Amino acid sequence: MAIVQFEHRPGILDLGWGHPRPSLLPVAEWAAAGSEALQAYGWQALTYGHSAGPAPLVDWLAAHVGDASPEQTFVTAGASHGLALVTPLLARPGDVVLVDSPTYHLAFPILRDAGVTLGPAPADEHGVLPAEVAKIPAAFLYLVPTFGNPTGRSLPLDRRRELVELGLPIVEDDTYRELFYGDAPPPALWRLGHNVVRLGSFAKTVAPGLRLGWINAAPSLITRLTRLGYVHSGGGVNHSVAMTMARFGASGAYAKHLGVVRERYREQRDALTIGPAPDGGWFTWLRLPSGVEASTLLPVAERHGVSFVPGSAFYVNGDNGHDHVRLSFSHLSPEELTEAARRLNAAISSVVGH
Ligand SMILES: Cc1ncc(COP(=O)(O)O)c(C=O)c1O
Repeated sequence: MAIVQFEHRPGILDLGWGHPRPSLLPVAEWAAAGSEALQAYGWQALTYGHSAGPAPLVDWLAAHVGDASPEQTFVTAGASHGLALVTPLLARPGDVVLVDSPTYHLAFPILRDAGVTLGPAPADEHGVLPAEVAKIPAAFLYLVPTFGNPTGRSLPLDRRRELVELGLPIVEDDTYRELFYGDAPPPALWRLGHNVVRLGSFAKTVAPGLRLGWINAAPSLITRLTRLGYVHSGGGVNHSVAMTMARFGASGAYAKHLGVVRERYREQRDALTIGPAPDGGWFTWLRLPSGVEASTLLPVAERHGVSFVPGSAFYVNGDNGHDHVRLSFSHLSPEELTEAARRLNAAISSVVGH
């Protein structure tokens, strides 16, 4: 049996994985925070947790994130879990849920698990088009407006304002907000409007294996979350890890670690010398030369020792994005990324030359 999701393919520099670089995971710092949490909270760190998440983490989050109160916060097992939890509260089976085009492809099965029908939100190269979205009846819109997966781009401020003014419920996946490599990103939709549920995660800033994140929403929705049957039976989500995260945050280890990973991921972004350089997040969205299709390029690229995810994976009907590929610079070292870019350029040239 394997231990981790990642599978190494010998000889291939794989730009397909949106996983952290293993050497950037804070093993020693996390161990120290775990031990501190046990010393500080004793048995309380190991028993059933409070339904919305333990106060030390919820209070730290409210202060750290700065735009949500403890009453607007529910601790989850990550952004994926947050999406799985809120979807049935915002939509009924058969309802239409709009998704940005392109957007995070692994959100599609999470949404479909709730029996909803997915529809592409009209978009251009800058992101969703609010006036067009307004024309389509839907239970809610899901999008990753900040350093998005797969494009790395952020929705411009004027569109953010127009979008929240529509009144359509929005689920904002804000997973990458803190991973910026220059200026801070535009304000969250959550901050601009009332009808927004925001999903946060520690998967990218600390470690995905924590399975820890949060939801910001109106207190009425937070109350509905705390009343879910499994929360009533099992207590707050992932309580002991949440208590360790509270120490990791309060001790200053989080801020220090964030500074380090921002620096390292910026170096990795710069080392991948192909595709536009995003201002944050883990991905770049490469447009292929005219006439080159991602599906044709993929086997050629793998013969050159490099891989990626074809762009069509990020469109709900798979009917678009054939001329794009998503490249992740999160997982490999700067040296490997530079070599991966060289191999990919060679693969593209060989296809264009044909
Ligand atoms: C946009 C987006 N949302 C959610 C996730 C998953 O987050 P978590 O590990 O917190 O479930 C990812 C990971 O790739 C992502 O890119």
